[in-house]
Amino acid sequence: MKTLADLLAEGVAGRRVLVRADLNVPLDGETITDDGRVRASLPTIQQLTGAGARVVIAAHLGRPKGAPDPKFSLKPVAKRLGELLGKDVKLAADVCGESAKSVVDSLADGDVALLENIRFDARETSKDEAERGALASDLAELCDVFVSDGFGVVHRKQASVYDVAKQQPCYAGGLVLDEVEVLRKLTEDPARPYVVVLGGAKVSDKLGVIANLLTKVDRLLIGGGMAYTFLKAQGHEVGQSLLQEDQLDQVRGFLAEAEKRGVELLLPVDVLAATEFGPDAPYEVVAATEIPADRQGLDIGPKTRELFASKLADAATVFWNGPMGVFEFEAFSGGTRAVAQALVDSKAFSVVGGGDSAAAVRQLGLPEDGFSHISTGGGASLEFLEGKELPGVQVLED
Ligand code: 3PG
Repeated sequence: MKTLADLLAEGVAGRRVLVRADLNVPLDGETITDDGRVRASLPTIQQLTGAGARVVIAAHLGRPKGAPDPKFSLKPVAKRLGELLGKDVKLAADVCGESAKSVVDSLADGDVALLENIRFDARETSKDEAERGALASDLAELCDVFVSDGFGVVHRKQASVYDVAKQQPCYAGGLVLDEVEVLRKLTEDPARPYVVVLGGAKVSDKLGVIANLLTKVDRLLIGGGMAYTFLKAQGHEVGQSLLQEDQLDQVRGFLAEAEKRGVELLLPVDVLAATEFGPDAPYEVVAATEIPADRQGLDIGPKTRELFASKLADAATVFWNGPMGVFEFEAFSGGTRAVAQALVDSKAFSVVGGGDSAAAVRQLGLPEDGFSHISTGGGASLEFLEGKELPGVQVLED
């Protein structure tokens, strides 16, 4: 695999370098609520501009339906990127049309341009290889070389992630290299005890990773919305809590497998049971086995926080993905905060999976340097841990 260092050694001054970045940030209107992915993308961009490259960035935002949609414009991202880089970032009005061509033509050495949301072009996510290939050709015309640095999307076989790497000389960017190196430490002989904390709303999003982790970890702590399907699978009533009835058999299988393998699988022992879903919903702390029929669990309770912290205290390796409750609501953020704090307090090699858990760390004001690594990839890091081949990484190795 050729890397950014190889490209810099070859020399990039005056060359047009297409960088696929993951700038898919959460927005509230036009306000970016967590710019972690933008900041994580800076080092590669800065090394390139510092060496005189003309940097053209391709990125997506959200999941538009393959056509321009102002709601998903990268405008706020271009602004934030410009502020962080301390230079103007020219945003093209299209993906690879007249505007993109003229913006790229206007670049001087060390300048940065951002193409409009790559998913405004339906070919980006097409299942048809020829369609993706056609977009990749259009992108290839805008550059001389390609740097893949959007770790959060390397699990997607998409034109700007995968196909373009087949059409131009390609290099792994610094972020992709860092992320892969860290995640390899988790999959290849992790220091033990190896403890994984999983949360988030749906167990169905994590089936593959749970199955794989049960063969690798010493302890699996489960919180968040997905915990209620586990509690129900154990025969407890969960009231109005999130429940995936269709996953009950699968989850029973996980419980049996954990027992067979001697993996300690821990579920909440108490929860904050609220009368409704909302930031000011009245709630009470109840045993996880006694959730009233008219209530829903919105966070793990104090005893669970203590239990999970104690199970993390002696860990040598920790991976955490998914909030423990509805952390966006202050009243239900305590469980997520407690788990994050336990990671900060532990001496373990600690990795936070991207997406919501990374956003939670920053929104709850925890020190980012309290963790060994905060991944920018949500789905990508889970698929890596699941043992799946990631197309955007594999194509760089070809
Ligand atoms: C993410 O948010 O995990 C990445 O940016 C990938 O986005 P996607 O799930 O819409 O492909």
